[in-house]
Amino acid sequence: MAILDKHKILETNATLLLICSFLVVSIGGLVQIAPLFWLENTIEKVEGMRPYTPLELAGREVYIREGCYVCHSQMIRPMRDEVERYGHYSLAAESMYDHPFQWGSKRTGPDLARVGGRYSNEWHVDHLRDPQSVVPESVMPKYGFLERKMIDGKYIGDVMAVNAMLGTPYSEDMLASAQADFKAQADPDSDYDGLLERYGESVSVSNFDGQPGVSEADALISYLQMMGTLVDFSTFTPDANR
Ligand code: HEC
Repeated sequence: MAILDKHKILETNATLLLICSFLVVSIGGLVQIAPLFWLENTIEKVEGMRPYTPLELAGREVYIREGCYVCHSQMIRPMRDEVERYGHYSLAAESMYDHPFQWGSKRTGPDLARVGGRYSNEWHVDHLRDPQSVVPESVMPKYGFLERKMIDGKYIGDVMAVNAMLGTPYSEDMLASAQADFKAQADPDSDYDGLLERYGESVSVSNFDGQPGVSEADALISYLQMMGTLVDFSTFTPDANR
């Protein structure tokens, strides 16, 4: 009965109960939260992840500016219905270079975490121009104006520098070649060897919107087409299962 007696002291003394509860919650909180301040330790490293190319990063900026995240999440939960519909559940490492991340929770439209490669560039052009022309019941707004907004990548190096400050491993070489790489990725006739050398063979070089010059649609589609494609899930095994 001794334990019960001691517990009675706690239960009948509000201040003591409060102090002890606070202690317990604090310890629990520390154990859960403190490791997150050392993200290198908490994000499992996966092969294939690389920082965004300048063009993809510009596309991500358009995505954020246009509020695509208001209707689209980028986070496939490890649940059967989601995995069957969208593919392998999202890994923390897949958004490690996202500042800020675009996980979201509102899904007026489908999750986009693995939309890369699911459709052709032409499909994206048609869909952005007039979503209802491809999916008649769609409530997605039209974004045709993005094709007409030309961009020259003058400031993309600055955006990359900010990302580098936040921990994205952009090298001096990547920062110095930002604008050249930006233009090269949207032009298959250019000399894009340097771009592939810096970012790897997974980079897709294309005239994404099919029109001359680099437009915001080029940038946005380059971003959409790489989403969720970097990690090869035919060879991936989570650390826990190794
Ligand atoms: C008002 C909500 C809304 C906004 C804002 C919105 N979308 Fe959508 N989106 C939808 C809906 C609904 C669908 C499903 C029907 C369709 O394919 O059009 C969709 C579908 C898509 C698809 C096809 C996904 C798939 O797997 O079939 C892509 C890609 C997409 N949206 C990209 C974007 C981008 C990029 C933006 C921002 C420029 C954006 N959306 C903004 C509602 C929205």
